[in-house]
Amino acid sequence: MTDRYAVIGNPISHSKSPQIHQMFAAQTGQDISYEKIEAPLDGFAATIQRLRDEGYKGCSVTVPFKFEAFKLATELSTFAQIAEAVNTLKLNFRGNTILGDNTDGHGLVKDIRFNLGIKLNQKRVLLIGAGGAASGVALPIMHQGAVLTIINRNAEKASNLATHAGNFIDKLPIEANVQSYAPSGCSFDYISNQKFDVVINATSAGLTDSELPLPPTIFSPNALAYDMMYGRETPFMKFAHEHGAQVADGLGMLVEQAAEAFYLWRGVRPDTAPVIAALRLT
Ligand code: ATR
Repeated sequence: MTDRYAVIGNPISHSKSPQIHQMFAAQTGQDISYEKIEAPLDGFAATIQRLRDEGYKGCSVTVPFKFEAFKLATELSTFAQIAEAVNTLKLNFRGNTILGDNTDGHGLVKDIRFNLGIKLNQKRVLLIGAGGAASGVALPIMHQGAVLTIINRNAEKASNLATHAGNFIDKLPIEANVQSYAPSGCSFDYISNQKFDVVINATSAGLTDSELPLPPTIFSPNALAYDMMYGRETPFMKFAHEHGAQVADGLGMLVEQAAEAFYLWRGVRPDTAPVIAALRLT
């Protein structure tokens, strides 16, 4: 029997998740269906209840429901606890429970490590932003042994995220030979004389084509500038190009976080490279 899955958001028409999961299913021979569902803004819990009644096995959760999904889950992965947001639900997990996970951090780290070929261990990483997107990736980045600095327009939020993520570092099995550092949280002024090996834009500034007040000297030689957005060049990407950094968008992260969700649901790891390549052509 075909197992049913869906992505839930509002709006949802733009979502590439059905395409991605259908490619994963075809590649791995898994018998699943995967659709888009637009839940009413006040109807996320009711939608999940309907899916459970109808026997759906899981769903992806996107804007604006990631926090509600976090509250609805009866069991949470460590990454979901840190992010205080859930992007993947496994329904009827162990009887009547709902497992909530956050695979965004895995997705980002895998894209940087395996698709872009950059090890984060000992690298100076700057994470810009302290909202939902940044909180999903802070600990997974630290977990790779990176020296993490978090900055945000609202510096207090950066500091809170840094403290919050730092409190969790002992809860994860850190790989041998990987050192972790407590991150520092601060405002844009703090970085005026610093250089970073990897600079990650986790703000939503690109949505409004806003520039970030970054000094042009911020990139070390061969630095990677990573924007979690995809689909077009943001002012951050343009700035990074102009100042000599290697630039990546968030399409690889999108596919990698989906692959992690697929693994959680199906126990099979799809090959992400052909899926990323196919999406680049659309
Ligand atoms: P998301 O889920 O995309 O992370 P969010 O939780 O609303 O959305 O967080 C948006 C982030 O982008 C915040 O870090 C925000 O900074 P503030 O906390 O200071 O508001 C950041 N952001 C949005 N627009 C920005 C801009 N024009 N310049 C700098 N930072 C911006």
